[in-house]
Amino acid sequence: MSKNICFIDGLEGILKYREIDINQLVELPYDAVSYLLIQGELPGDKELAEYAACLHGEREVNREVIDVIRMCNFNVDSIEALRTIVSFISQFDPDINDSSPEGNMRKAIRLIAKIPTIVAAYFRIANGKQPVLPDPSLSHGANFLYMLRGNKPTQLEAEVMEKDFILSAEHELNASTFSSRVTASTLSDLYSAVVSGLCTLKGPLHGGARAEVVTMIEEIACPENAENYVLDKLSKKEKIMGFGHRVYKTYDPRGTIFKQLAKQLAEAKGDMHWYNTAEVVENTVIRELVEKKGKPIYPNVDFYSGVIYKYMDIPPQLATSIFAIGRVSGWIAHCFDQYEKKKIIRPRAFMLDEC
Ligand code: ACO
Repeated sequence: MSKNICFIDGLEGILKYREIDINQLVELPYDAVSYLLIQGELPGDKELAEYAACLHGEREVNREVIDVIRMCNFNVDSIEALRTIVSFISQFDPDINDSSPEGNMRKAIRLIAKIPTIVAAYFRIANGKQPVLPDPSLSHGANFLYMLRGNKPTQLEAEVMEKDFILSAEHELNASTFSSRVTASTLSDLYSAVVSGLCTLKGPLHGGARAEVVTMIEEIACPENAENYVLDKLSKKEKIMGFGHRVYKTYDPRGTIFKQLAKQLAEAKGDMHWYNTAEVVENTVIRELVEKKGKPIYPNVDFYSGVIYKYMDIPPQLATSIFAIGRVSGWIAHCFDQYEKKKIIRPRAFMLDEC
């Protein structure tokens, strides 16, 4: 059942994947959460070891992918390249024409495993460096940071990245998951469904907000500027990126966890600058919109994750693609559910008036 994949209580600020609370999930490895989403239950030790071995063994991309990355325009957001390359690699997947559950599972594993490698290779090549081969001994989060930087991250950074992927992995029928499901509902292949998800995630009202948060924090530059920045934006009726949500009318539980992670990183680095800047933004938005105007506009998943990227030296151009690394497991869980239904999603135009 689609509703079993994810549960959200937007008034109480509760989020569960497959009936497990997000605060518990965030303590697991990403591989276990990915398995949970796709297979419907948590893996035992043996299942997790097997699933992780399959994922870690599929991380490498072929030579052609690197050649295509070298032809990309590095002056635009990395999601442009990621979308193109996910579409490009489908033709090399030996299971592209196998729509059996087993064939789809093999494609799913390749997509989840290879997307981080593509993003990291894009970043390295964009910066005039050689791509770094994946290290199968590392977790999803640690391996991604290793491929990005060429050296192993600290334990805290690896944990934060892993939790970022978990917190981003699934969120019911958000816009990008809905797109993926619509594509899967036509019985089109998994790569096409993931490309649909990527195209929709990109928008600044959805996953693209994370990149805008990183840019906004850079633009504000210091805590002393933050209050006036927010007041100025609100006076022009502009939105503050990383705030507000269609479903949550209270604190987004992912935002709360991201805030704690941002604080941990800031303390570990002995640099509270970006955290303090973000906190003044948050306090000003809450005072102006929640307290004075009664609008339920709280930090969403994109706000403190953007702050984390500042601490990890991740540029805004990578933020949406990194969101996609986590979210791909959720998209695939929904596609598998949709494939089982064998029913096309075909709403009527009047339903759009409800959106
Ligand atoms: N800053 C300031 N005001 C806001 C914000 C914000 N971030 N979000 C909503 N509001 C205000 C609107 O101006 C509107 O005010 P009004 O009633 O006086 O006109 C009211 O709150 C309702 O806003 P809508 O945009 O109608 O709310 P909706 O549910 O349609 O949109 C959305 C939700 C798109 C997330 C919105 O809050 C927004 O644009 N936020 C900024 C972008 C963002 O952070 N997106 C990421 C969301 S999480 C995700 O997709 C991964």
